[in-house]
Amino acid sequence: MKDVVLDTDDRFRLTDIDQPAPGPGEVAIAVQYAGIQWGDVLVRGGHFPVPRPFVPGFEAAGRVIAVGEGVDVELLDRPVTALTGGGAYAEVVLAPAALVFDATGVDPRTAAGLGWAAPTAYDLINTVARVRAGDSVLIHAAAGGVGSLAAQFARQAGAERIVGVVGNADRAAYATRFGYDLLLSREDFRDATADERFDVILDPVGGPTRLTNVQRLAPHGRLALYGNIATPDSVALDDNDLLVSGASVLTYNGNLLSRTHPHRLADSARAALRMVASGQVRPDITATYEMVDLDEAVHRLAEGGTRGKSVLRITGGSSRTFRG
Ligand SMILES: NC(=O)c1ccc[n+]([C@@H]2O[C@H](COP(=O)([O-])OP(=O)(O)OC[C@H]3O[C@@H](n4cnc5c(N)ncnc54)[C@H](OP(=O)(O)O)[C@@H]3O)[C@@H](O)[C@H]2O)c1
Repeated sequence: MKDVVLDTDDRFRLTDIDQPAPGPGEVAIAVQYAGIQWGDVLVRGGHFPVPRPFVPGFEAAGRVIAVGEGVDVELLDRPVTALTGGGAYAEVVLAPAALVFDATGVDPRTAAGLGWAAPTAYDLINTVARVRAGDSVLIHAAAGGVGSLAAQFARQAGAERIVGVVGNADRAAYATRFGYDLLLSREDFRDATADERFDVILDPVGGPTRLTNVQRLAPHGRLALYGNIATPDSVALDDNDLLVSGASVLTYNGNLLSRTHPHRLADSARAALRMVASGQVRPDITATYEMVDLDEAVHRLAEGGTRGKSVLRITGGSSRTFRG
């Protein structure tokens, strides 16, 4: 079957590999679309220790073609979306049954676009920062996969004011569609919000921005950390300052959650999927790439040249259907 590998020279290449068969507790999915996400940038940059060549692709949508021992055969033929630890940039991917979700009623391109971003955004708003009615929320990387969904989940949770921070004015204009009350460029963020305080701040950025975020928290505010886009270097947060203002610093690690508490992650993914199926939340898939173009797609994401979510169309048609 066709797949795309990340090679030893950091390039993504189309190759052929054997079709995998599901082991106990696993499901094999004939992939129609796979979501492209920041994890591809990180894995290309060597931030995840994987042996090369490696088949990336961490989120897939397609149909179930085989189930392993212990998995309900009712899943066969179902349209699903799945979270994986890799392998989705291929005609067939294996996923743990616990992280495979019925996507009936959601088109496969949109279903692939939900990926890890949807449960991450849902959890950041609802189970980590616990946005309440009337809260004000600040969202960095506001036009990206997680940010664009987080704004919509925040509104559904009753947030009164939602401010987004993006790379430039063009991206600010694009992101208005997600319901932000105000959008700021990174350049303007420091000055424009100098007097404003937020009940909740979502921070995938790190570095000096993280220190500014702490200063922007309202009394009892919650700062949710979930990435280090700007720099992997730690910053020192003053615990006594936090205590004085009743503020909390929280973190979210979906990858770890998938291994320690997969059912919690699954609950959030299903809740997000329901809100998309009912039209309350709308992922914005702005680009569909072919398998040969993955290198360009990841390059554009890394350079800030994408909006919303990009997906990869999986073609080939050589996958075999197993029965039972
Ligand atoms: N902890 C978890 O479980 C978890 C799960 C999923 C994702 N994540 C993290 O969430 C972040 C977003 O992931 P994603 O897949 O949704 O990617 P994405 O948001 O679609 O793309 C990355 C975003 O980062 C912004 N950006 C780029 N360089 C930046 C910088 N120096 N400072 C601030 N923002 C910058 C870009 O937009 P602008 O140029 O408009 O700002 C872009 O929107 C990543 O850090 C990813 O690792 C964490």
